[in-house]
Amino acid sequence: MNYPVWDVPGLGAGLVVAIIAIFHVLVSHIAVGGGAFLFVAELWARRQPEKERILAWLKRYVVFFLVFTTVFGAITGVGIWFSIQLASPEATSLLIHQFVFAWAIEWVAFLGELTVLYLYYYGWSANPERRRVLLAGAYFGIAWMSLVVINGILTFMLTPGGWTLESHDIAAGFFNPGYFPALGLRTVVMFLLAGLSAFVVAGRIDAKDSLKPRIVRFAAYWVIPAAVLIPLFSYAYWATLPSLTTQLAQEGVAGLAGGKLEVMARALMLAGATAVLILVGTLSFAVRPRAVTMGAAVALLGTAQLGIAGAEFFREMARKPYVVHGVLYSNALWAKEAKPATLTKPFLSRAHWHPQTQPLTRARGEWIYRLQCASCHTRGGYRSLEQRTATWTPEFGFKWLETMNATGVMPPFQGDAEDRAALTSYLLSLNGRKVDPAAILNPPPSKAAVVQARLEEVTP
Ligand code: HEC
Repeated sequence: MNYPVWDVPGLGAGLVVAIIAIFHVLVSHIAVGGGAFLFVAELWARRQPEKERILAWLKRYVVFFLVFTTVFGAITGVGIWFSIQLASPEATSLLIHQFVFAWAIEWVAFLGELTVLYLYYYGWSANPERRRVLLAGAYFGIAWMSLVVINGILTFMLTPGGWTLESHDIAAGFFNPGYFPALGLRTVVMFLLAGLSAFVVAGRIDAKDSLKPRIVRFAAYWVIPAAVLIPLFSYAYWATLPSLTTQLAQEGVAGLAGGKLEVMARALMLAGATAVLILVGTLSFAVRPRAVTMGAAVALLGTAQLGIAGAEFFREMARKPYVVHGVLYSNALWAKEAKPATLTKPFLSRAHWHPQTQPLTRARGEWIYRLQCASCHTRGGYRSLEQRTATWTPEFGFKWLETMNATGVMPPFQGDAEDRAALTSYLLSLNGRKVDPAAILNPPPSKAAVVQARLEEVTP
């Protein structure tokens, strides 16, 4: 509430971050896993009869790798920074303040990674073989370090562990309960992605060329063990999740019109199904390596992208209603301030960025929507409130807001009765219903009550 809101129509700010992030996760994991692939492939190629030809292929892999990871990796990485600070300035500020040295290490690692990669690629023919292998190994080491660092900050958001706002115990927050399972999971995922992207480059080799089966099978060794290990690490990660989360995933989230909307379970199923698809696809590639085309390989990589989307959506849902679990709600309300005495004050008196609006107006309701709901809902697009309030009556909405946190996925409502009336009136207007906020606050007596009163008057 100390910052302006970023109101993105249709998508919502959170979905903008998600779209960029899902793509970035794919690219960044290829950037690390591909480093390991280069290093091992260099060593492997040396012992093959067709060494020179394999190395020539490997150079093509490096071109793909370099362009893909530096261009898309850098664009999406910067995109994440831009979008998160607009979508959630309060949380971004918290993460920067707590982990300032971790970020510094991250940026240095990133710079080192790029430098070594350029030395490796542009020195391809000038460097003696030993140095090239050394550079590939160094690249992987530095790139993995950047994963080691960012993983601490990412897992902190869902399981802050022993860190609290009072203790500021950075080590406890960094090496939180989710840290090691997530690191293991990300590490095997990046091996899997390195293998899948090798298929893409290998798909272009002529089917009659004897090189093709060798390289396809070599790449399959990267995918198959990883695909088998992913469920194990996922399970270990699951075991560290807050119990509220696992319960939500199992029982579904109260959804539309009181029905059950098992979004989390569906996202998990998507991730699981893609892992199976990748395993089956890779096995068939290994059996018929000459039949691998670039299109088929890209499709398999696309499947992995879907799986990543499923896993990321699961994690985002898992963190609801918080952005930092138990500490900061997604709409910038601090958990420590979520006490009845604070919550029931007029809301806009506590928020800094909004124009002057009159109490008991729809305009005020809209600003309450922006500041309290827009971090998770849009009006008519993603997780639309127009749809979710379509069956509301004024009385129902006014009452519902008071207990909305009982759903387990939303923060408590902040504001007094006038604020609830203004917001209810605004939400009803999304469906074209014009109800005066004052009438919601003090509803006119019902017809039956009027008749009753009249009867009492006339009865002696
Ligand atoms: C932390 C994110 C978050 C915030 C903030 C949030 N919601 Fe929600 N809301 C959800 C989720 C998640 C669901 C359940 C899944 C769904 O309906 O998509 C939900 C569901 C709903 C529903 C449907 C409930 C049902 O039982 O069918 C309504 C109505 C709603 N929200 C209104 C609001 C209003 C009004 C605000 C602001 C005062 C708000 N939400 C703030 C995340 C949030």
